[in-house]
Amino acid sequence: MARLPCVIVFLIATRIVAGEIKNVGWWKNAVFYQIYPRSFQDDNNDGIGDLKGITKRLDHFKETGIDAVWLSPIYASPMVDFGYDISDFRKIHPDYGTDADFTELISTARKLGIKVIMDLVPNHTSDEHEWFQKSLAGDEAYKDYYIWHDKPTDGKPLNNWISVFGGSAWNCSSSRPQCYFHQFHYKQPDLNFRSDKVQEEMKDIIRFWLDKGIDGFRVDAIPHLFEVEDLRNEPRTNLPGVVDGEYAYLDHFYTKDQPETYDVVKSWVKLMNDYANASNTDEKVMTVEAYTFLNKTTEYYETGCQIPFNFYFITDVNRTSGPDQFKKVIDQWLTEIAGRPGAVANWVLGNHDGSRTASRYPGRGDQMTMLAMILPGVAVTYYGEEIGMIDKTDISYEDTQDPAGCNAGREKYKEKSRDPVRTPMQWNDDINAGFNQGERTWIPVNENFVELNLAAQKTAKFSHYKIYKKLIHLRKTHAALLTGKVETFVSSDKKILSVVRSSNTESIILIINFSDTETVTVNLVNQVPSIAAGGLVEVATLDSPINEGSSVNLRKLPIAPKQSLVISAKIQK
Ligand code: NOJ
Repeated sequence: MARLPCVIVFLIATRIVAGEIKNVGWWKNAVFYQIYPRSFQDDNNDGIGDLKGITKRLDHFKETGIDAVWLSPIYASPMVDFGYDISDFRKIHPDYGTDADFTELISTARKLGIKVIMDLVPNHTSDEHEWFQKSLAGDEAYKDYYIWHDKPTDGKPLNNWISVFGGSAWNCSSSRPQCYFHQFHYKQPDLNFRSDKVQEEMKDIIRFWLDKGIDGFRVDAIPHLFEVEDLRNEPRTNLPGVVDGEYAYLDHFYTKDQPETYDVVKSWVKLMNDYANASNTDEKVMTVEAYTFLNKTTEYYETGCQIPFNFYFITDVNRTSGPDQFKKVIDQWLTEIAGRPGAVANWVLGNHDGSRTASRYPGRGDQMTMLAMILPGVAVTYYGEEIGMIDKTDISYEDTQDPAGCNAGREKYKEKSRDPVRTPMQWNDDINAGFNQGERTWIPVNENFVELNLAAQKTAKFSHYKIYKKLIHLRKTHAALLTGKVETFVSSDKKILSVVRSSNTESIILIINFSDTETVTVNLVNQVPSIAAGGLVEVATLDSPINEGSSVNLRKLPIAPKQSLVISAKIQK
């Protein structure tokens, strides 16, 4: 056998050792789905959703075309903030199951081709975490794991910083004669990322879960990772109706968005890339939760993080917004990321922290799904939104579980409680909506499950679910949606928004009528002169007089009040 030249042998060997990241970019046009494990599927009937339940429901994602699921925290926790207060980052909470259940979930998901992303909560731990207990006891090795400052001698607070859940961000009543800082609940002390040891601990945790075969992380509360060291007071916002002690009382210039945060995120992305490279796995993905200024959110792209969540459909538009405001929210994100090379857009419609899409936009939930699915890039769905689940708004103060609600007190709990959006998934019209067969559920099921459930929507001729599924199918089968360019238009009467995605051969056009009362006739050929005058309705909202599958005249297309259509049209040569 001929001998290979040494240099080639060396190159082959290096390649094997270095490995390669596979399937780079798998996430670029993906649909991500957030599972709130407590509320998804309860296999052992104890009232709390669990891993076995999720595994049994993985088919739902396969059948629907969902590419990746993100699990809200399943780790050991006293559950003061339902898992966002972690007492052991490597242990699974027994409510959710065992290590074996987790392995089973990952291997079943892998067989089905579904990626699994875990929540990483680096900003804080539970006060019951061993690190905090040791830090509290003054153990030298853990002393600086958290942010401690001496108690002021005059009995006044250390400074005016306020926690996200309300009230002072300092807790001085600990047994250590100092105060510790907490951005969230006082039982969620902030880790000190100025400590190299803390940084190494978090990297070890990332490796631990990557070793279990997960595909990436959704990183919690990232803008809160660092605060200025000199404890400067934060300035007042002077927002009307906001009182001292409420988070919105101050501008958080010194407790959010510090430059050091981006360096830490960069080091995690590098770790994940190195890991994928060394283990020959598919690209690992990071999403970050960063409610902050637009440029600060998109700055996470510079760290290599692929999906800095875009919350602007949650925070900057609402049921009263018109097409102009929607266009602005869409265009400003696209323009902002155009200046960030390689950045891919993403659109988040809802999550466990705020009102559901169908409640924020009554009668217009499908319109919002259409936007997220037709716009370029990643679409993110909160569980239940594929069937148009709504908030359960009648949970009493006594039954309220969420610390944000409890902290707000009886008067204001409804404004702050996130319980209404965390009710059990509505699978069918059986007992407890098919969430379990038990006597209780950790939070009440929305009574509307009798009509509003997945099973019913699968059999109905038209349903939210069918719209959702069809949109995913379109995304996967039309080049215009996979790689096509995007344009947005508002009609001169300010009633219609169109989003146009075009490849060389076809345009896919989403048209939304924002008027609640008027039918508006549009001429799409005026907007997109290259398209043929005849189009096909691919998807229509539920009460639309024009149904899916209809051929339509794009020069004269009537759109009924509140209705939206997705149309395909050939480009004329
Ligand atoms: C953001 C999470 O989404 C929220 O649910 C949690 O309460 C806070 N971070 C604290 O971890």
